[in-house]
Amino acid sequence: MLLRCMECGREYPANEVRNRCDCGGLLDIDLGITSPLATDLFDQRLGGRGRLDQSGVWRFRELLPTIPGDAIVTKPEGNTNLYDVESLARWAGVERLVLKHEGENPTGSFKDRGMTVAASHAKWTGARIVACASTGNTSASVASYAALAGVPSIVFVPEGKISAAKLGQTIAYGATIVQIRGDFDAAMKLVEQASDAYGIYLLNSINPFRMEGQKTILFDLLQQLEWALPDWVVLPGGNLGNSSALGRALIDLQAAGILAEPPRVAVIQAAGASPFYEAFRSGFRSFEPMEAETVASAIRIGNPVSYARARRTIEITNGAVEIVSDTELLDAKAMIDRAGIGCEPASATTLAGLRKLVQAGTIAPNAFVAGILTGNLMKDTEAVIDYHLGAGSDERPLANKPVLIDPTLDALEGVLAGALQR
Ligand code: F0G
Repeated sequence: MLLRCMECGREYPANEVRNRCDCGGLLDIDLGITSPLATDLFDQRLGGRGRLDQSGVWRFRELLPTIPGDAIVTKPEGNTNLYDVESLARWAGVERLVLKHEGENPTGSFKDRGMTVAASHAKWTGARIVACASTGNTSASVASYAALAGVPSIVFVPEGKISAAKLGQTIAYGATIVQIRGDFDAAMKLVEQASDAYGIYLLNSINPFRMEGQKTILFDLLQQLEWALPDWVVLPGGNLGNSSALGRALIDLQAAGILAEPPRVAVIQAAGASPFYEAFRSGFRSFEPMEAETVASAIRIGNPVSYARARRTIEITNGAVEIVSDTELLDAKAMIDRAGIGCEPASATTLAGLRKLVQAGTIAPNAFVAGILTGNLMKDTEAVIDYHLGAGSDERPLANKPVLIDPTLDALEGVLAGALQR
C-alpha cells in the first residue's frame, strides 16, 4: 500500500500524513491488489456479529487501507437501503432504476463512509485536531466521528449558506465552527492553508483515505445486486470526491478480479455550479473554476478539489456529465419525496440528470440504472417548505399545502374528499 501522485507519479509511504504531493498533485492510494478476491468472503460476513463485519464499509476491508482494529471508529455505517421504484424508473424513462439511499447513513449523508476510514486513520496517526471545509454534510460527519474518536474538530463553513439542520447537527456534535465570510471554495482554500500551516489533519475528500471509504458505496450496491452490474451509475457532483471514489472502486474491483467491464458513470451537476460539466464539454481540455449559485446548497461549489480524480472516473468508464436547473432538480426531488423515499435537493440531481440523459439519447431506455441519493430529506426542510408553500407553489402540480380548519367534522369533510383523490 502506498500513496501515489496523480500528476507526477511520485510515491510516498501510506502512513505519511499529507494532503498533496510536493508538486501540488492529488494523491491516490494504491492498495497493491494483485490476487483475485472471492465475493463469498464479503457475503459470509453479512449478518455477522463482528464489529467490523457489521459495517457496510469495513465488511470490505480487503479492498481498503489496513488500519489496526483498535483505531477504527465505526458507528457502523453503510448498509443503506436500495429502492427499486417502478414509478421513478418510468418518470426517468428507463426500464429499471434502483436508488441507493446514502442519506440513510448514521449522520444522514454518504460522507460517513469516507469518514470512518479517514477519521480512523487520523486517530491511528495521532492527529491533535481534525478539520474540514463544508457545505454542511461533511462538517456534521466530521464532528460526529471526531467526537467518537476523542479528537477535537474544527470546521469551516460558508456563513448563511448551509441548512439549519446541518449547522444544528455540527453544533450538537461539538465541533468548533468557523463561519467564513465567503463561499465554500474560499473555506476550502483556507482550511487547506491552515492544515499545512498548523499540521491539522484534513478530513476533506482531498484526503485519499476519505476516498477509500467512499468506494464502498459501489461494493455495498453490487453486493445487494448479488454482484450483478448495472449499465450506468448516476450520482451528483460537487467537490467531486464521490465521483472520484467510484473510479477508484472500479479500478480496485478489476484488480481483484470481481469486475470485468465497468458500468458507465454519469455525474450530474447543478447548472449554476457546473465547472466539471464545462470541462467535460471541452473534452477535458480546459477547466475553469466559477462562482457557484444553486438552490442545492450541498453542491454550491465552483472549484472542486478532486477534479483530476473525477476526470479519471469519466474517462475509464466512457461516462457522461450533465447539468440540471434548480427547477428540474426540485421537481425530481418532489417525485422522490412523494414516492415515500425522500432526499435533500442535491441528491435529486441524480434523477433529474438521468431523465435528461435518457431524453438526450445518452442512456438507452432499456438500461438498468443505479442512482445514488447522497443526503437525507431531513437535512434541508427549508427547501421542502419553499417548494410546497413558497412563491410559485400554486403553479407546481406536486405542491402539497397543509390546510387549516376548525376542529369540526363539517370542516374536515371537504378536506377528506380531496385527500381521497390523491
Ligand atoms: N450530495 C450531497 C448531499 C452532498 O453533501 C455533497 C457534498 C454532494 C452531493 C457532492 O458530493 O462533493 O463528493 O461531489 N457535500 C460536501 C459537504 C461538499 O461539505 O458536505 P461530492
